[in-house]
Amino acid sequence: MTKAFLAALAGERQKRPPVWLMRQAGRYLPEYRELRATASSFLDFCYTPRLAVEATLQPIRRFGFDAAILFSDILVLPDALGQSVSFETGEGPRLDPIANREDFEKLHETPDWTRLAPVFETVASVKAALPAETALIGFCGAPWTVASYMIAGRGTPDQAPARLFAYREPELFGALIDRLADSSADYLSLQIEAGAEAVQVFDSWSGVLPGPEFARWCVAPLKRLVTRLKARHPHIPVIAFPRCAATHLGRFAEVEGLAAIGLDTAADPPVAAALLPQRLAFQGNLDPLALIVGGRALDDGVEAVLEAFAGPRAHIFNLGHGILPETPIAHVERMLARLRGP
Ligand code: CP3
Repeated sequence: MTKAFLAALAGERQKRPPVWLMRQAGRYLPEYRELRATASSFLDFCYTPRLAVEATLQPIRRFGFDAAILFSDILVLPDALGQSVSFETGEGPRLDPIANREDFEKLHETPDWTRLAPVFETVASVKAALPAETALIGFCGAPWTVASYMIAGRGTPDQAPARLFAYREPELFGALIDRLADSSADYLSLQIEAGAEAVQVFDSWSGVLPGPEFARWCVAPLKRLVTRLKARHPHIPVIAFPRCAATHLGRFAEVEGLAAIGLDTAADPPVAAALLPQRLAFQGNLDPLALIVGGRALDDGVEAVLEAFAGPRAHIFNLGHGILPETPIAHVERMLARLRGP
């Protein structure tokens, strides 16, 4: 059975774009909220295969998306590197911030893979349970985005703590980025060996960097990560999602081995198309807020996305960022009805 999502990643434009949504498993689903309430903490939830498998499958059962994405989080990697990570309800992640060389040296050189074993078990069980037409996506955070949480110890509006750190201590920051690039490549390799058929690298915070820093802390580490991953898995399709980095998109043309680029809400598809070779599929980029509002805003938004990606290039329909908890389920159904046609 050919999977439409994987065919699109191979560059073959599909009659109707395959569709999945970033953060498709999550709080907008009542069945997710119910399941989540049974776990003591978010990390325990991620590390309990029975729960993580169920959360991964919930949006597939309900909506029949073309791809499932492993239920986990980008911050399990710092956890496996020995940094303390927790999630406070309603407040987001909390990590023991890395402030200096001493803190950096406390990290493990390689992730504790036994800590991540439940993630690989989840991947294998999901793979066995998915319908034949549904692909399975593994993921990690990009080195810059993960490092920005490791340094600030929490979410910030502009990742100023990591940017300051990178200017003040470029060598030490570079060592952290290299450790993350190599660990992430190995982490993705293990997800692939457990059954993931494509992988996405989330660089949610790439958009806060000026050009030279973007090249140094986003593009170069992605190259390093993809090169190491492809040495082990030459045929795995890799999707890069550099959020809010529209002006720097052209730099991804030099990253060999990518299959697709995820465009965020603000990216303009024709502009991106002029910057990137046609062999790269595009994924995106409906505004998650239009999906909250529904009605005319949603219908017009979906039409505009379909039109903007109408070229010969392969397109995977997605949002420009994660689906938000307040999104009505009926709006997701309405969007899918339009995408799937009569
Ligand atoms: O896409 C999916 O359905 C798979 C699961 C997934 C989660 N996080 C589950 C999650 C994925 C792919 C992520 C990626 C992730 N995590 C990113 C990159 C994508 C993006 O949204 O920019 C980032 C930056 C994180 C870090 C993170 N995790 C934050 C900042 C937060 C708190 C904010 C929030 O949305 O609550 C989380 C928690 C988190 N990760 C939740 C979920 C479902 C909510 C926690 C809960 O359910 O209790």
